[in-house]
Parts: sequence; C-alpha cells; structure tokens
Amino acid sequence: MKITILTICPELFQSFLSSHVVRRAEKMGLAEVEVRDLRTYADGSFRKVDDSPFGGGRGLVLRCTPVFRALEQIRIEDEAAGGKGRFFPESADGRKQERPGTPSGPRRVTAVLTPAGTPYRQAAAHRFARADHLVLICGHYEGIDERVLDRADEAVSIGDYVLTGGELPAMVVADSVLRLLRGTLREGSAEEESFENGLLEYPQYTQPAEEEGAKIPGILLSGNHGEIQRWRTAEALRVTLERRPDLLRDRKFTEAEWSALDAYAPKTAELLKKRTEEWKK
Ligand code: ADE
Repeated sequence: MKITILTICPELFQSFLSSHVVRRAEKMGLAEVEVRDLRTYADGSFRKVDDSPFGGGRGLVLRCTPVFRALEQIRIEDEAAGGKGRFFPESADGRKQERPGTPSGPRRVTAVLTPAGTPYRQAAAHRFARADHLVLICGHYEGIDERVLDRADEAVSIGDYVLTGGELPAMVVADSVLRLLRGTLREGSAEEESFENGLLEYPQYTQPAEEEGAKIPGILLSGNHGEIQRWRTAEALRVTLERRPDLLRDRKFTEAEWSALDAYAPKTAELLKKRTEEWKK
C-alpha cells in the first residue's frame, strides 16, 4: 500500500519516516510512505496556505485550493499506475473503486485529521490497512476549509482533545495501519493486543520475578500454560472493567470467561454480574 500525508509542516515527519515501523514496512516491500508539502500546491511567491475565516472570527483557516490540487495530482498519478505497480499489487484484479471519477486506479481512501472527526478505533485501522492508497490530510491552525471535508471520504479524530495540527494524529494513524500489514508484526502478536478482541490487554511482566519487594503473580511461574491463559483472560476482563467499562457494555461473555473470572478474579465476576444487570435496564 501507499500512504500519502498532506501537510504544511513536512519537517515534523522526519523522525517518523526513519522510524522502525516505516522502515520495516518499506524494506519488506509492503508499503511506501510519502509526505507532501501543501505549500508546493499554493500560488504566488508567498505560497499562502491559510486565510482568515469568512464571516469573521479568530485565527486562520487552511485553504481548500492547495488540498484540491494535491488530491487531483494524486488521482492522476494513481490512475497512471492503473492499479498496478509495486505498491498496488492487489488492484490488478479489477476491484471496484469506491470514489467516483477514478475508475481504474488503486482503491484510495482519503481522511482528514481533525478534532471534529469520528473517533479513531482499531476497526478503522484494519479498514485503512485494506486500502491501496491511504491519503491523510492534516488540518492546521484554527481549522480547515469545510470543502476539504466534503471532498474527503472521512474525518478522523484520535481523541477528545485539541492538538496544534493533524500531524501527530496522522503519524498515529499511519503507525497503527503499517503495523497491521501482513509481515510487519510477528505472527499472532496482533491478535493478543488491546482492542483486537474487544478487551484491553492482560498485564505483562518480565525479569526479574521480584524487584524491591514487587513480585510478579505466582501463576506465571507455574509452567501451566492452560491456567496461565485462563488467568490472562480473567485479568483482561478485570482491567477492562476497571478502566474501560464502556467496552464491555454490549459484549456477550463466554462460559470460559465466567469460569476464568470465578477462578482468578471473583470480585470482578461479582461486579461484572451486577453491571450487566444494570446495563440490561
Ligand atoms: N487535530 C487537532 N487535534 C486533533 C485530534 N484530536 N484528532 C485529529 N486531528 C486533530
């Protein structure tokens, strides 16, 4: 796949582009990540990318013109690639385009990073990872011209807080997508992570088994892998109920999960029964 990031602060991506996750994906031929400076698509010697808002108000708004031009250039390049090429190998099977006006190019998804977007979740990371070309548009200053959002496929927020721009969020999204590409992770390691099964991850420990009186749970030294797995199931449920009860609201719990809770976290079992009764009301 290809990931293109459109930004007015390309220098912020320097260390990201040389990070392990990007380099590894590129070395394995799974992805290419490019950053384009929106200023190169702006007019005049000042290459003005922002302006004051129509109707008045504080600050500067990112103009739609440079973004539209960049998107058009990307569309032309994708179409020229014709769904083939090093980073678009799967498009050769003639999969349908989601966007109008791009009948032959790779399957492209365009997302704007903005605090006014839909909350970004692991499911969206999986969806983005299936695209041939993910285009991430970084909002900046006080906002971005709404016509950019009208033209994009989606608007994404990485959390309920406001950052200076969409650059850090774009790195967050790109990182979460790249590490899902087949082969960038060790086999099986993604499945056990937080959110992959709708739960937070169970607690992890490493050497030493005791430090300054802080001991690891004894079960981890038992060598009984079946029981360790049951303990991990109970702990994942305990931690999730404690920190993210919202994740459990619509969940159907299995017999194995209740039995693991009864054995290793009876207080959580009790609390969870109470909560599920309340959630039914
Ligand atoms: N830009 C500024 N804040 C943001 C956020 N929380 N998510 C996505 N983009 C942003």
